[in-house]
Amino acid sequence: MTYTLHRGDALTVLKFLPDESINAVITTPPYNSGGRTSSERTSRGVRAKYVTSGSGSAHDLKPFPGENCLRVTQKPVEIMQQLVQICPEGGAVLAPFTGSGSTGVAAFREGRQFHGVELGLRHADIVEQRLRAELTKDDFVLAGPEA
Ligand SMILES: C[S@@+](CC[C@H](N)C(=O)[O-])C[C@H]1O[C@@H](n2cnc3c(N)ncnc32)[C@H](O)[C@@H]1O
Repeated sequence: MTYTLHRGDALTVLKFLPDESINAVITTPPYNSGGRTSSERTSRGVRAKYVTSGSGSAHDLKPFPGENCLRVTQKPVEIMQQLVQICPEGGAVLAPFTGSGSTGVAAFREGRQFHGVELGLRHADIVEQRLRAELTKDDFVLAGPEA
């Protein structure tokens, strides 16, 4: 099982991933960070921020706690653990805009491999730190910089 962090531009890195090496893409590309204003971004709980209410079972996610966020768009690992299950066990999840790395931690905890790509240096440091805290050094691959 491998967990790779590519430090670089997703648009460059994606061109070099081998064909058919990814089973699921789970991504939140840059957006307005959960609100139009600074107070909207920070005043709501994680469920209100990330789960759209509506009918049907599409949003019927189990309860999940919040986290002490390292960054404003950080997703709770518990919710990502549910989402990575769309990938077959042992398969590879790709997160092209990795952010804080919650998808990578979730992939590891659910027995999926992981390719993350993060352009921001500070964010990439956070991802590396979080993945290294979970993984043995043999499982972790640091690639890049790939600009
Ligand atoms: C909305 S955040 C992702 C949040 C992430 N799901 C989490 O749980 O933390 C988008 C991320 O994309 C990164 N980014 C922006 N442009 C990028 C690019 N061209 N290639 C790779 N990463 C990029 C930003 O630095 C930011 O960390």
